[in-house]
Amino acid sequence: MQDYHEFLDEILIDEATLQVRITELAEEINRDYQGETLHLICILRGGVIFLTDLMRHLTVLNSVDFMAISSYGTSRQTTGQVRINMDLVENISGRNVLLVEDIVDSGYTIASVLDLLKTRHPKTLRVCTLLDKPERREVNVPIHYRGFSIPNKFVFGYGLDLDEYYRNLPFIATVDLARFSPSG
Ligand code: IMP
Ligand code: MG
Repeated sequence: MQDYHEFLDEILIDEATLQVRITELAEEINRDYQGETLHLICILRGGVIFLTDLMRHLTVLNSVDFMAISSYGTSRQTTGQVRINMDLVENISGRNVLLVEDIVDSGYTIASVLDLLKTRHPKTLRVCTLLDKPERREVNVPIHYRGFSIPNKFVFGYGLDLDEYYRNLPFIATVDLARFSPSG
């Protein structure tokens, strides 16, 4: 695989900025769910880095579960349909569910997951996303906690992949697709 420096366009959100904002989001969540118990649902795989940093700042009692889905379409463009690859382990009926996502782009992924989870009767159901690309939205989705609104550019790092690689980078960067060759 290529060294990411070869196709990195710019660092959009650096590590320190990410961490400050994530702490603020956690404080907001702590206030909103004070006295309640929270059930975090992380959508694999992109949301996992955000989840683990976010939950370290939670003081409200919480549990966590995971769900893996894949969307049809190319790796950089979703269509309306998603498929569940791995379902939750636990029942969410009567619980305060908070979905933790890396990015809301067209909105199809979150919209489908929300539709599915609503049928399981959670007590409350909210969305927390690190990134939001509002210009790309095709379906309206409620976002209760938003880390950053970003321009319509493809990004990688901090959970987000480029053809499954580079999720471990501690910052969010934009990619110069002309200089990125998927085969390495
Ligand atoms: P949506 O269904 O179009 O909202 O897409 C959401 C999913 O697409 C995210 O969970 C990501 O996996 C992926 N995605 C969307 N934009 C980007 C990006 O800029 N970089 C990496 N993955 C992205
Ligand atoms: Mg992806």
